[in-house]
Parts: sequence; structure tokens; C-alpha cells
Amino acid sequence: MERIAFIGAGSMAEAIIKGWIDKNCIANEHLFITNKSDQDRLETLQQAYGVQILPNKSMLHDMDCIVLAMKPKDAKEAMIAIAPFLNKKTVVFSVLAGISIATIRSFLGNRPIARTMPNTSATIGMSASGVAFNELVDEQLRTTCLTMLQAIGTVVEVEEDQLHAVTAFSGSGPAYIYYLLEAFENVAAEVGLQQDVVRTLMVQTLAGSAAMLQTGNEEPATLRRKVTSPGGTTEAGLRALEQHEVTAAIAACVKSAEARSRELAQGI
Ligand SMILES: NC(=O)c1ccc[n+]([C@@H]2O[C@H](COP(=O)([O-])OP(=O)(O)OC[C@H]3O[C@@H](n4cnc5c(N)ncnc54)[C@H](OP(=O)(O)O)[C@@H]3O)[C@@H](O)[C@H]2O)c1
Repeated sequence: MERIAFIGAGSMAEAIIKGWIDKNCIANEHLFITNKSDQDRLETLQQAYGVQILPNKSMLHDMDCIVLAMKPKDAKEAMIAIAPFLNKKTVVFSVLAGISIATIRSFLGNRPIARTMPNTSATIGMSASGVAFNELVDEQLRTTCLTMLQAIGTVVEVEEDQLHAVTAFSGSGPAYIYYLLEAFENVAAEVGLQQDVVRTLMVQTLAGSAAMLQTGNEEPATLRRKVTSPGGTTEAGLRALEQHEVTAAIAACVKSAEARSRELAQGI
């Protein structure tokens, strides 16, 4: 894709722009940005990344792709405003939570559409993203979109309906992990450690465990068993997790988030 315009230049747009430029996916002068009203923000991004501020909407006609990156509540107004300026081939790449491909098509016409669900770690190039494509995305375009999402982290392709589950796992997932860390820190004093010490230990434990899993050499259960000696400390800790039904709590957490994603989508 030669020229790409971001409709909405907030934090997700910046994360993607940074990832694409860092990974040489596209030259910065071929990236265009636009906002509803926040001109200062556009100038800040222009200075930071060398991207161009879209001078007027008629230039959208020259874009190969537009990225929908406003808040979902602003999407309808934004799509109505840009629809007359798109050319027939312009690809739509959406990061809007909860807005379906059918809704995008109803405002912007029948065209190739990639609907993606990144997460907040995109800001440091470590997103876990899901993506779904409509039937007009051909193999070459699909590969291009996947490559672009890999520039901000890891990506899995799913059916559009599965994006609700992706949202429940990796979209909301960072908050679950932060919540866990808060829980570890909260108990620090009771076992005689300071919170900052626990943070150092557990952040590295999370990173180390994630890195072990990323090697893909061993299953989580195998790795868990290796740490768990019979009658030892880990076994005692895991038994307490079982007694407090943590597995059931995690299942309830994911199912609630998935159901809420479906509910929110209905309301849009
Ligand atoms: N942040 C995340 O971690 C994350 C994760 C997954 C998905 N997402 C999705 O990413 C999207 C953007 O989120 P964000 O956090 O980047 O939001 P944000 O920081 O609030 O940025 C939204 C931008 O959209 C612009 N905008 C609003 N209405 C517009 C319009 N009619 N035309 C053009 N631009 C318009 C705003 O500009 P003005 O200030 O001028 O109005 C603002 O710069 C959301 O749909 C969200 O669901 C975000």
C-alpha cells in the first residue's frame, strides 16, 4: 500500500504509526493524519514521526487505505464525512472496537475491509491483535495487513464473530494481568516484603514465564509441573488457588467480557 490516511490521530493511531515506521512497513511521508478538531495533536505527530497532515478531505481520493482510528462513538459521524471522498479501491483498516464490517460497509460501501482488535501494548510494539477480513480482501492484501499488524506485535486471524472472544482475552487481557500484579503487591506486607520489591520480582516472573511459553517448547501444564515438587511450596500455593476456585473465576471473567462485547456491539 502506497498511501495511507489515519482518520483519528489518537493513541492507537500513534502506536500503529510508530510500529510501521520503526519496522519500515511504509515511508513516513506516505502516511497522512487527520482529526476532528485537535490540530495541535496533528502537529505533534508530524514533528515526532515526519508524517503528513491531510490538507483536505478531497485528498482521501488518492489513498490506497484509510485507517479508522477514532473512538467508536465518533465513528458514524466520521464515516459519513469521509465516504464521498474515497475511491472505489480504497481499503479500510479499522481498529474500532465493536463496529462490525457490515456497519463499516453500510457507511463506506462494498470494499476490502480489515477489522482488527489490537491491545494497549501496541504502544510498545507488543500488541496481541486479532484480525478478520471481508471476502473482498485478496491473498496479497491479507498478507500485507498481517505484516502491518505484526509491526505492532503478534496477530492471529479469526472469523469476525470471534473478535468478541479476542476482545475478552487479549483486548481486555492487559487489565487482567495488571489486576493480578496489584493482588500480588497487596499481599506483600503480610509476608514481610515491600511492594516495590514484589513488583520487581513479579514483573520479571511474568516476563520470564511469558518468554518460556513463547519458546513453544513445552505446554503450560508441563512447565507448571516442573516447578511443583510434591509437598513443596508451589503445591501449597496452587492448592490455595484451587480452593478459591480461581479457574472458575477466570472462566467467568472471560465469558463476562465476551458477552459484554456482544452487548456493546448491539448498542452501536
Ligand atoms: N487505545 C487502545 O489501547 C485501543 C485498543 C484497541 C482498540 N482501540 C480502538 O482504537 C480506537 C481509537 O482509540 P484511541 O485510544 O486511539 O482514541 P483517542 O486517543 O481518543 O483518539 C481518537 C482520535 O479520533 C479523533 N476523531 C474524533 N472524531 C473524529 C472524526 N469525526 N474525524 C476524524 N477524527 C476524529 C480525535 O480527534 P479530536 O480530538 O480532534 O476529536 C482523536 O484524536 C477506538 O475505536 C478504540 O476502540 C484502542
